[in-house]
Amino acid sequence: MKIKGTVLDVPVGTAVFTEKKWKSLSEAKITCLDYSVDMIEQARKRLEGFSNITCIQGDVGNLPMEGSSFDIVLSMNGFHAFPDKKKAFRETFRVLKPGGKFIACFYIKGKSVIIDWLVKNILAKKGWFTPPFPTEDQLLKILKHLYKDIVFQVDGSMVYFCCTK
Ligand SMILES: C[S@@+](CC[C@H](N)C(=O)[O-])C[C@H]1O[C@@H](n2cnc3c(N)ncnc32)[C@H](O)[C@@H]1O
Repeated sequence: MKIKGTVLDVPVGTAVFTEKKWKSLSEAKITCLDYSVDMIEQARKRLEGFSNITCIQGDVGNLPMEGSSFDIVLSMNGFHAFPDKKKAFRETFRVLKPGGKFIACFYIKGKSVIIDWLVKNILAKKGWFTPPFPTEDQLLKILKHLYKDIVFQVDGSMVYFCCTK
């Protein structure tokens, strides 16, 4: 699919999963943001040479963009890492244009005893995941409050969704 508008990839991480796609979207204006200086440097290196792609170090809870700036906000594997999820939901909503799409995937709690144990006892202790994690019902309530046209799929302990502001 060819995208022509403005896209925010938050958190971009090292851009390992989005590099190919972003490089193919020559008509889109893409902003990639991550809190980690190390991650954003790696993303910058991968994406350098593409004048329509900008990499910024920053906090999803305090995005340095005007409201209603983006046609698409993509958040892959971010919300289980973000420390302040309330602010992250608020800011991703704020920077989306009316009619813009919020697309995300991340871990949700309550689907697998084993995965919940791993997240709590290993991934959260390493600092890779940050509680509290929403359950499916809690997440749906948040999304329904903010968005319409919610397409929502749960696969194991991961949720994938696309919704419209
Ligand atoms: C699991 S990685 C996901 C990166 C990428 N989307 C991917 O799927 O490979 C989680 C990322 O969230 C970033 N992160 C954590 N807290 C953040 C915050 N407050 N604002 C922006 N990025 C944050 C981390 O630096 C890390 O790069």
